[in-house]
Amino acid sequence: MPAVTTQPQPTEDVSGDAYHRLADRFGILYPLQAKPLMESVKRVIEAAQVKRPERLRALDRLRAASPDWKARSGESVYTFYVDRMAGDLSGLIERLDYLQALGVRWLHPLPLLKAREGDSDGGFAVQDYREVEPSLGTMADLERLAQELHSRDMGLLLDVVCNHTAREHEWARRAREGDPRYRAYYHVVESAEAVAAWEETLIDVFPDTAPGSFTHDPDMGGWVWTTFYPFQWDLNYANPDVFLEMLEVLLFLANQGVQGFRLDSAPFLWKREGTSCRNQPETYQIIEAFRAALDLAAPSVVLLAEAIESLDDVLPFFGREAPACGLAYNNGVMTALWGALADQDAEPVNRVLTAAAARPDHAAWLNYVRCHDDLIWNALSAYAGFADLERWSTFYDGAGFSNGRRFQTAPGGVPSTNGMASALVGVGKPGVDQDLALARLRLLYGVIHALDGWPLIYMGDEIGLGNDETYRLDPERAAEGRWLHRPAMDWARASEAARGQGSAGAIFRSLRRFGEAARELNELGVTGRTVPLDVGDRRLLAFTRTAGQPFVCLANLSPETVALNEPIDGVETPWDVLTHQAVTAGPLTLQPYQILWLAERS
Ligand code: GLC
Repeated sequence: MPAVTTQPQPTEDVSGDAYHRLADRFGILYPLQAKPLMESVKRVIEAAQVKRPERLRALDRLRAASPDWKARSGESVYTFYVDRMAGDLSGLIERLDYLQALGVRWLHPLPLLKAREGDSDGGFAVQDYREVEPSLGTMADLERLAQELHSRDMGLLLDVVCNHTAREHEWARRAREGDPRYRAYYHVVESAEAVAAWEETLIDVFPDTAPGSFTHDPDMGGWVWTTFYPFQWDLNYANPDVFLEMLEVLLFLANQGVQGFRLDSAPFLWKREGTSCRNQPETYQIIEAFRAALDLAAPSVVLLAEAIESLDDVLPFFGREAPACGLAYNNGVMTALWGALADQDAEPVNRVLTAAAARPDHAAWLNYVRCHDDLIWNALSAYAGFADLERWSTFYDGAGFSNGRRFQTAPGGVPSTNGMASALVGVGKPGVDQDLALARLRLLYGVIHALDGWPLIYMGDEIGLGNDETYRLDPERAAEGRWLHRPAMDWARASEAARGQGSAGAIFRSLRRFGEAARELNELGVTGRTVPLDVGDRRLLAFTRTAGQPFVCLANLSPETVALNEPIDGVETPWDVLTHQAVTAGPLTLQPYQILWLAERS
């Protein structure tokens, strides 16, 4: 099997040295306050330990007994907005049978904590971390959901918007009222000159809809740091009180039964003049400290880094000197996959896969095709040339088979892409061969299930749900292109699909099969990191896994039939895990966009 280079491996110890890990991080982050902070953190941890319900302690023990549980294939995650999926949390509980039938193991509802009124960036402007958004239900409903999932052997991954609060959060409200304690929770810059100095090296996230990274607030007598929308106030993690507050939030939610946290906007936690204020070393230290504290109070809880950055900046989110996140979005591979599909050339994916293999052993990638955000080409700039990124951005802006749309980008960048997966592959687009469009969707999901890591399904992709153009009729959302790919679930179609009917039924069956097949890989002993293979034809994406039994995934990125002249290295008597069919000896032929998962027939 090919050799891979990995990052230095952080220690695996889950409790023994956790206090030391905390103390080390505090010594670096908060040298002057490290001691009293440690005392406070200890109290918070001990209180959370006492409150941890027995069923969750049992889960902690179970996961501790198989420390490599995250490495298993087929830990499928389903992500969605609660309101668009099921109205509210009670409605969601009624849909669990559907999700279970799809084979999903984890639910990741997008933010559901109490958001500010009006525009809240899809819930990413939290007003209260201890309350559920009233239109979605109550904390008791959340706990009920968590328990219901637990009893089905499923888990709940919750968004914690840890980089910023809503301007209406109590901390921000008190800051606006002049309380110095809470003013120090945020970054307030007092002169226009200072703002300009910071802005010189910052890159706007939403240059069209929210230009600049600061918002003048008369109540605050200055400019508040607002990386995203003006109503999203960045927290000041250089203040240890902020760390402590957010830790309390995490532990509170963990004890409600949340089994994992998506740390939203993780790259932005630490600010340093003269930099882009993304992915600063202290950011990684903060997350390592969160991990250490969780190891003491809720060790089975997994952390997911939402860091849509260059792969080299994402890797440290897994931890540098100590474990940090157990999961991170594999956005590099995802983006490269779309590029490869446009070009019918596996090369960009191969480059990123090779680099992604540097993840540490304790961590897993979250592999995905689409999510609720735009597809950010700029984050791939270390692995693809500017001309490639531009070509892909243009392609998915409605050219060729695609029916996507470009999204805002900072000057000098390449526009991102919006659109549902099915629209990007051409489902429903006039003049596009629909069998091929569906085969493309199937291929993408087949690939992300075969990679090492957890596969993520974005709501609606399992039934080929298309773009939602109606967002433009809603004045609150009209200017925000990402709503194009946040449609309401089509339950008539979904129920049909779950019964295996129609073209949606075929997609549903394929996605369900990918999840099952991924779990079969565990039984077959196929494991280890993903490593690309050169099969002599760049139209074929080919990769293997570095440990256990032989396995080769082959995906034809082209609309042509491709014959392989060479036998596949490593698999003697190939058998397709997806169909359980033997693969005939002799030259292999892949139909347009066909995907095969070859393993050794046992
Ligand atoms: C993350 C979310 C995105 C949101 C932003 C600000 O990137 O995924 O939807 O706009 O954070 O919270």
